[in-house]
Order: sequence, then C-alpha cells, then structure tokens
Amino acid sequence: MELNHPRILNIVKFADLRGNLSVLENPSTLPFEIARAYWIHGVPAGGTRHGHAYYSSQELIIALSGSFDVITDSAAGTKQFTLSRADCGLYLPPLTWREIYNTSTNSVALIVSSTLYDELDYIRDLSEFKQIIDNEHR
Ligand code: TYD
Repeated sequence: MELNHPRILNIVKFADLRGNLSVLENPSTLPFEIARAYWIHGVPAGGTRHGHAYYSSQELIIALSGSFDVITDSAAGTKQFTLSRADCGLYLPPLTWREIYNTSTNSVALIVSSTLYDELDYIRDLSEFKQIIDNEHR
C-alpha cells in the first residue's frame, strides 16, 4: 500500500472509566497540519454528501457519531470504507474523489482539512476528475 493512498488511520485514544478522549495532532497522529475543521450533521438517513475531489487539499473524515460509507476513486483505484468509530479516520490525499453515502440517522462527520476553504481547489465534475487522473496518474 502506498502512503499517499486513501486509508484508515487510527486516532490516539485515552480510555479510562470516565470514557474516551481522542486527539489529532500534527505530526504525531496526523500527516498534515490542520488549517480548517468542518462537520456535516443533520443529514437525512441514507443521505449523500461530498461528491467531489480537491486539487491540493488533504482531509481526514471521522464519524464522530453514527455511521456512513465513503467511496473513493483515485490513482489507487476505487475503494469503499465504512466509518462508524470516533477513534479512527479516513485519510484522503489530494486528487481523491469521495462520496459519503448511506448515512445513519444523526450521523456527524468531522472533517479536518489541510487548507482553508477555496472553491477553486474543488473538482466537482466526475468526468473532469477522471480525465485529470488518467493524464497524471494512471
Ligand atoms: P458543499 O461542498 O456543497 O458540501 P458537501 O461537499 O459536503 O456536500 O458545501 C456546502 C456549502 O458550504 C457550499 O455553499 C460551500 C460552503 N462551504 C464553506 O463556505 N466553507 C467550507 O469550509 C465548506 C466545506 C463549505
């Protein structure tokens, strides 16, 4: 497995009788510095989000509550992940198409990003994305 492929990262968890505490820190537990955090919540059960890629942003997606599936397409090919734990996250390198789907009721997705929000960094057209990947990586 190449390191720049989409992959699940375990997040540090401090567990005791009071419950769990997890932490993200660069560089010890996260391969990029966090510039931004956002979360997706209130999505209807069975809903979908994302459906895009970025030219340069790296992200980590964590299911803080509930569960959802993520399908990715990148130079690594197509992969499918199920996120349902607050102590692991899906790392997505640049040029990774991702779709969140099959959201459970009351799911909360925390996403930490390596960049500030910039609409110009988005690739929102799947055929355009596939062309970029074909030209650069396959
Ligand atoms: P959108 O990209 O459509 O959501 P998703 O990909 O998660 O389905 O974003 C929804 C709106 O939120 C859109 O108007 C852009 C805005 N937005 C920001 O202003 N800042 C941000 O950091 C993000 C992620 C989105």
